[in-house]
Amino acid sequence: MSKDLDTLLKEEREFKADPNLIDQSNIKQWMNSHDINDYEELLEKSNENIEWFWNEMAMEMEWFKPYKQILEWEHPHAKWFLDGKFNIVHNALDRHIKTWRKNKVAYIWEGEDGSVKKLTYFELYREVNRLANALKNMGVKKGDRVSIYLPMILELPIAMLACAKIGAIHSVVFSGFWAKAFQERANDAKVKVAITADGFNRRGKTIELKKTVDMVIDNIPSIEKILVVENIGLEVNMEEGRDLFWSDVLKKEIAICETEELDSEDPLFILYTSGTTGKPKGVLHTHAGYAVGTYTTLKFVFDLNDQDIWWCAADVGWITGHSYIVYAPLLMGATSFIFEGTPDYPDPGRFWKMVEEHGVSVFYTAPTTIRMFMKHGEKWPQKYDLTTLRILGSVGEPINPEAWVWYHKNIGNHKCPIMDTWWQTETGMHIITPLPLSDLKPGSACKPFPTIQADVVDDDGNSIVGDGGHLVLKNPWPSMFRTLYGDPERYVEAYWSKFPGMYLSGDVARKDEEGYFWIQGREDDVLNVAGHRISTAEVESALVSHPTVAESAVVGRPDILKGEEIAAFVVLKNEFQASPKLKHQLREHVREFIGPIASPAFIGFVDDLPKTRSGKIMRRVIKARVKKEDVGDISTLSNPESVDGLDKAV
Ligand code: WT7
Repeated sequence: MSKDLDTLLKEEREFKADPNLIDQSNIKQWMNSHDINDYEELLEKSNENIEWFWNEMAMEMEWFKPYKQILEWEHPHAKWFLDGKFNIVHNALDRHIKTWRKNKVAYIWEGEDGSVKKLTYFELYREVNRLANALKNMGVKKGDRVSIYLPMILELPIAMLACAKIGAIHSVVFSGFWAKAFQERANDAKVKVAITADGFNRRGKTIELKKTVDMVIDNIPSIEKILVVENIGLEVNMEEGRDLFWSDVLKKEIAICETEELDSEDPLFILYTSGTTGKPKGVLHTHAGYAVGTYTTLKFVFDLNDQDIWWCAADVGWITGHSYIVYAPLLMGATSFIFEGTPDYPDPGRFWKMVEEHGVSVFYTAPTTIRMFMKHGEKWPQKYDLTTLRILGSVGEPINPEAWVWYHKNIGNHKCPIMDTWWQTETGMHIITPLPLSDLKPGSACKPFPTIQADVVDDDGNSIVGDGGHLVLKNPWPSMFRTLYGDPERYVEAYWSKFPGMYLSGDVARKDEEGYFWIQGREDDVLNVAGHRISTAEVESALVSHPTVAESAVVGRPDILKGEEIAAFVVLKNEFQASPKLKHQLREHVREFIGPIASPAFIGFVDDLPKTRSGKIMRRVIKARVKKEDVGDISTLSNPESVDGLDKAV
């Protein structure tokens, strides 16, 4: 199906699993205690009886009241651990306070400026309790939504946990998104309270976050209170009666707060992700199933134990950070390292310097970051001692074999396995992934996690081997999303309608003879820029909101570093002239509306966009021209001459 992934298909290198790692691994020990001899038997047994497997894992959690039923699957609606009383925060914090882990470090945080802060489980627990009390005083109740719009500072996990503790639903908005994106998400969830900061530093530049909120606050009628973290001491506008400083509020609160006894299926958070058309999708996750799924995958895939320093180098604003910086590591009682800044600031050795200084042992990043390091060369990692590393990970987009091998050699010194984990905001946890038992093939995410029935099917829904097709999942898993917030029809239509009984991931993949999966990318028009899903529709609507623009079409253009970069074609209103200055203004405009990540790398001015007779833009044609490929069949095109215009603009 996808032509530009030929290099993946030819990959034949294989890296055998290390017997020492296998023997000591969490998964092997678990298998031993369940009389399971090898990987094949593990998959067989757990697939035969998924309830058995997940029940075993759920029993590693503390329940206020035990569940009566493991799974209720009324396609496409799943409920897990029914009638149980549970709270993810009880398991992530409260239970550790009763053990030796009380004084273990939960987070080691390093700021962009090099300052370091550490929080033990007990300290984190007390901060969360204070904020939970403060939220209650601000009128937040069980089921209320709270927007969290914070940079990568410790207040971000604290805010999430405080919401969850009292049964409020958090909706984190990535701090790199700007005013319009914040407004849209806050309105969709009708949030009562927003938590933000005065601002933060990015590559030495100051980003004013509270000011961004102020730009759109009049358009978000549901917000009653705004809590502002004084992060870098910026002067901010505070509206009497509405805006409160974090430190003022918290110093009044005691550090004891009951954890709300929730139902297993009570909602934990909403996280917005881009869809092909229309507004972003509010992916909804719940307390118990999400806890069990993320905990289990972190334990078995990345094999964490109490000696490890775990570093998931994602932003908490994405699902990777929700699952594997905040919830799963705390559920495991692990020590995590968190970094506020960017990988190449002040220089491309920054990450490796921190691995050395903090003794990081398990490290998880994205292919786009690895490709950036490849560009800067081996000399940067060579300056530092990386021998503490034992396992590496990759997530967010397909990792090309060259990057995989570079990562394996230069960061892992040939000895660390690379866990190429395929999953999505919707799945909550790793779905197709190696385990420490797996023999690895560079570029392949290996096999489905125990209990997961993933498959590749053709357009008729028939299972296929060796060719590209739709990547689908055929049974439920505990941390699956339960619905799209406020839009239950779209949940069914977008994910569960194309093939009866199957979850449609929206990705194209190939399964080889040995059952290894090779993910090839998105099948729709959502772009994957540096591992982040960005909808063409959102960028287009930002462009069209500029006074000079009549119409626009946005497509992805392959980019060695970012995976994809954004190429935008713009039709100007008659009275305006194309110019380099206008190009610059449009880029700035998109930046301001959505955020720097969505700013187009390329803008071309055209008189007309290729359209079907019904007026739909034919992105397929635009994409082909951007890649300088043949446009194929254009008989349904109403204005074939527009193709020449594209060529002139490229
Ligand atoms: C999409 C999900 C999952 C956390 C980060 C992104 C792509 C993700 C891989 C991988 C190939 C991958 C897919 C997927 N993707 N991991 N290991 N190999 N592609 O979460 O924003 O929900 O995006 O990211 O296209 O559908 P997300």
